[in-house]
Amino acid sequence: MCGIVGYIGEKNATPIILGGLKKLEYRGYDSAGMAVLMDGRIEVRRDAGKLEKLAALIKESPIAGSAGIGHTRWATHGIPSARNAHPHLSKDGNFVVVHNGIVENFLTLKEELEAEGVVFQSDTDTETIVHLLEKNYTLTHDLISAARKTLLALKGAHGVVMMSRLEPDKIVAARIGNAGGVVIGYGEGEMFVASDIPAILDHTRRVVFLESGQMAVITRDGASLSTLTGLPVKPEFHVISWDPVAAEKGEYRHFMQKEIHEQVRSLTDTLAGRVDWEDARVLLPSLNLNREIAEKIQKITITACGTAAHAGMVGKFLLEHIARIPTEVDIASEFRYRDPLVNANTVVLAISQSGETADTLAAMEEARRKGAMVWSIVNAIGSQAMRIADGCISMQVGPEIGVASTKAFTAPLVDLYLLAILLGDLRGVLTQRDRQKLVSDLSVLPDAVGRCLDRENEVLAVARALKDTRDALYLGRGINMPIAYEGALKLKEISYIHAEAYPAGEMKHGPIALVDKDMPVVAIAPQDLWYDKMISQIEQVKARGGVVVAVATEGDQRVESLADHVFWVPRVNWLLAPVVTVIPLQIFAYHIASLRGLDVDQPRNLAKSVTVE
Ligand code: M6R
Repeated sequence: MCGIVGYIGEKNATPIILGGLKKLEYRGYDSAGMAVLMDGRIEVRRDAGKLEKLAALIKESPIAGSAGIGHTRWATHGIPSARNAHPHLSKDGNFVVVHNGIVENFLTLKEELEAEGVVFQSDTDTETIVHLLEKNYTLTHDLISAARKTLLALKGAHGVVMMSRLEPDKIVAARIGNAGGVVIGYGEGEMFVASDIPAILDHTRRVVFLESGQMAVITRDGASLSTLTGLPVKPEFHVISWDPVAAEKGEYRHFMQKEIHEQVRSLTDTLAGRVDWEDARVLLPSLNLNREIAEKIQKITITACGTAAHAGMVGKFLLEHIARIPTEVDIASEFRYRDPLVNANTVVLAISQSGETADTLAAMEEARRKGAMVWSIVNAIGSQAMRIADGCISMQVGPEIGVASTKAFTAPLVDLYLLAILLGDLRGVLTQRDRQKLVSDLSVLPDAVGRCLDRENEVLAVARALKDTRDALYLGRGINMPIAYEGALKLKEISYIHAEAYPAGEMKHGPIALVDKDMPVVAIAPQDLWYDKMISQIEQVKARGGVVVAVATEGDQRVESLADHVFWVPRVNWLLAPVVTVIPLQIFAYHIASLRGLDVDQPRNLAKSVTVE
C-alpha cells in the first residue's frame, strides 16, 4: 500500500522523487522519506506525517544526487513515526532500502540478526531487509548477488527497491508476490522505478512491469531483468496512454470532486469502441469470448472488495436478468478462504480499480487453482489483476487518485451491463428487439450523469443542513440496494460519520428501532419495480419522526411530498439506474466531508491500494 519512487540519471534525483511521491501519496501518508547518493555517501531524510513535512525537512537540510529512492508509507509494523519511516539504512551506512509489503518471517530474521549483534533502529519488518543485504554483501561482495540472496530469504509479498553507495551506478528493484506493482520507466539517459505509473508519467510513458519473482538491475542506460534465481527475462514494453494532466487536481479542490465530475467523460470513454450502435451489438475483444465459451458458463462468481464489490452486486442483477446466468458475489477476502464451489464451467470475475488489491488477487489465484475461468474488470493498466486474468475489460477512466472510489465505480457498472448483453447475445437468450433496446438505452447515459452533476448545488445545500449528523441510514431495494451500501461507504470513509446500509425490506426486522428525529435516512427510490415498496418504507420512517433524504426520479411529486430533501436523478432504464442514483450520494459524501474540514482525498487510516491482507 506504500508508494515507492526511484531515479537514476544525470539530473538531481531529489525533486524528481519528491514530485513522484506527491503523485503516490494516495497510496499511504503516515510518513515519508527519501535517500540520495550524495558525495559518495547515502543521505536520508524522513519524517512522520504527510509529504509536505518531508519537503520542509529537505528544504531545511537539502540533499542532492543523481540517484535516489523515496517512499510514502501506510504503516503495518510500527507506528507512524520518523524512526519507522522508510528508507531504512544499514548499520554501516552502505545500503538503503524502501519496501512495500510485509516480511512475514521478519521475527525469525530479526532474532537471527540480533543474535549476530545487529541493533535495530525501528519497529518495522523492512529493517530486516537492509541488515540482511549488508550481511549478504560481506559474503558476496556484489550487490546483485547479495540482493538475490536477501530477496530469496523473505517470506510474504513485496515490492522492494535497494541502493548501495558501494555500487552507485545501479538501483535494484524486485517484486515478490502480490504486494503491489513495480514499474520500471525508461527515459533518455535516465531511468525510473515506482510502485505505480502516475509517479513517473511526467518523465516517461515507456514502461515495463515486473512480474512476481522478478528483479531488475537499473542503471541510467536501461534495466536488466531476471528471475530472483538468476534466469534472464525479456522485458515486455508498454506505452502508457494516460494523460499526466489526468493525475492533477486542476481547478478542483480535491481529486475526489474532480473524479466525480469526470464521470460524463469516463462513461463516454467506457462506451467508445465497445458498442456497434447500428447493429446493436457489444464488442469486448479483450475478453477472448466466443459462443462456445459463453454457452459453457454455468455460473459467474464476482469477487472484489469495497466499492468494487458493490459494483459486483449490481452486476449480479445485470448478468442474471440480461444474460440469465446464475451469478453470486463474494467479498474477495472471504472467497479466498471459503473453499468456494467453482469449476471449469464457472467464470470468476474480479473487479478492481487498482488491480493490486491483495485479497482480490488471492481470490483470482484460488479460482485458477480450482480450474475456473478467470476474468477481470480493472482500471490500472499493466496491473496484476489485468495480467493474470484469461480475459480482461479495461476500465477507461484514467488514474483515480482520491481514496474514495467514484469514477471507478460507475465504469464497471457499464462494463457489466455490456458484458451481460454480450453473454446474453452469444447464449441466444436475447431477442434482437431486447438487444436493440438495451443498447439504445446506453446512449443517454453520459448525458443523464451530466444532469446529476449539474445539480451539485442542490446536494450541497442538503449537505450543509446535515453535516453535523452522527449517524445515517441508507436504504435501497433491488438493483439500487448496492447503491445504499455504496452511498454509506462513501460517507463513512471520508466524513467519519457512522453510516449503515440496509435492504429496505429488512428495516422491520430490526433497524427501524434506530429511527428518530436525529437519524437521517437516505432512501434510494427511483421509479422502478421496487418503487411502491420504497414509498411505504419512506412513510414508515416519517411516521417515526425520521428525516428522509430521497433519491428520486425527476418530477416525482409523491416522493417530493413525503421526503424532507430530494436528490433528483433523470429517468433511465432501471438496469442502468444505479449509474445515476449513485452520483448525488458521491457528491453528498464529498461535501459533508469537505464542510467538516476533513482531508477528503486522504482519509485517516486508509490507503488507495490495499496490497496487504
Ligand atoms: O483497487 P480496488 O478496486 O481493488 O479497491 C477495493 C477497495 O479497497 C476500494 O474500493 C475501497 O473500498 C475504496 N476506498 C472505496 O471508496
